[in-house]
Amino acid sequence: MTISNQSPQLIDRFGRRVDYLRVSITDRCDFRCVYCMSEKMIFLPRDQVLSLEELYTITKAFAELGVKKIRITGGEPLVRRGALELLENIGKIESLNELVLTTNGSQLEHMAVPLKNAGVKRINISLDTLDVDKFKAITRTGDLRQVLRGIGAANAAGFERIKLNAVILKDKNHQEVVDLVQFAVDKGIDISFIEEMPLGMVSQHDRSASYYSSDCIKADLATQFSLLASTEKTGGPSVYYKVQGTNTRVGFISPHSANFCSTCNRVRLTVEGRLLLCLGNEHSVDLKQIIRANPGDMDILKQTIVAAMLIKPEKHEFNIHEQAVILRHMSVTGG
Ligand code: GTP
Ligand code: 5AD
Ligand code: SF4
Repeated sequence: MTISNQSPQLIDRFGRRVDYLRVSITDRCDFRCVYCMSEKMIFLPRDQVLSLEELYTITKAFAELGVKKIRITGGEPLVRRGALELLENIGKIESLNELVLTTNGSQLEHMAVPLKNAGVKRINISLDTLDVDKFKAITRTGDLRQVLRGIGAANAAGFERIKLNAVILKDKNHQEVVDLVQFAVDKGIDISFIEEMPLGMVSQHDRSASYYSSDCIKADLATQFSLLASTEKTGGPSVYYKVQGTNTRVGFISPHSANFCSTCNRVRLTVEGRLLLCLGNEHSVDLKQIIRANPGDMDILKQTIVAAMLIKPEKHEFNIHEQAVILRHMSVTGG
């Protein structure tokens, strides 16, 4: 297979163009969110994890194949040693339009400014509650005050946009959706509400009983805010509304109630070197094996990536009311 140097593109069987790569740079995290991880997790041994150089090489290959947006995720990406150096290097890839990051916020207090200087344009920060005790209950190990200081530091650092991500769980934090939007409005930032997805087995948490749909959240918000439908897109799955009279956008990520797979433009790289073609399926290609067997050979790597598009599934088939079919935890891909 030869690859055109003119305008290389990644297109799948359904005609969807892939121009967004999500790169998980560690499966480790300093939190243990109940919907994401089980209490006791076994993380990957070091020799199975891509080095920073290998992560950069694969990212570069995607950029050469027309990918314009790279999102760095984890686990918690900022707990990986050398994360900043990797971001700086990716930030220098000229053909990219956007280098963005998803984080739990725990390290932002000291890393927000260096991240901005590395070329990170936007940051998404997880925040499910504004209550210290509930935060501890949901994250198991997290400290709300530390994350709030991190959000403050990110705001001061001057990113193009900051978005909060809140996974809403019935009877755990669903009562807080108005307060969370008010918090975003006060800070002049955006917020997305996420319907929980059944990935990996989690203990201490009943996913079926916790389901709270985007429509329920919209109804709760309508008691306090006017939400105006917006056509703004960030290249992710959020459907956005503007909070009237503010700079804040409220997004809804609704894998159950409003499937968004027909416009999917993204694939994921795990830190183990698996190229995952869909969050909700196991179809994948082992890129670590390719780069370790063919060191320095960008052509073989790019050919493998182009060929992988042919196994990108049409859509996810999540069922929140059944045992998780996908055994991989969300922390393997960082969403
Ligand atoms: P931007 O739109 O660039 O701001 O990012 P995003 O909202 O897509 O990314 P983020 O990392 O903040 O993820 C938010 C949520 O969207 C996470 O729960 C992800 O798992 C979910 N998400 C992102 N892409 C997909 C997808 O392709 N399929 C599914 N089911 N969920 C996704
Ligand atoms: N379902 C939905 N969202 C999840 N996240 C983590 N686990 C899940 C899940 N099972 C969210 C995190 C983070 C984003 C990347 O994914 O809260 O904000
Ligand atoms: Fe860590 Fe994010 Fe998973 Fe929470 S959701 S345990 S912060 S990877």
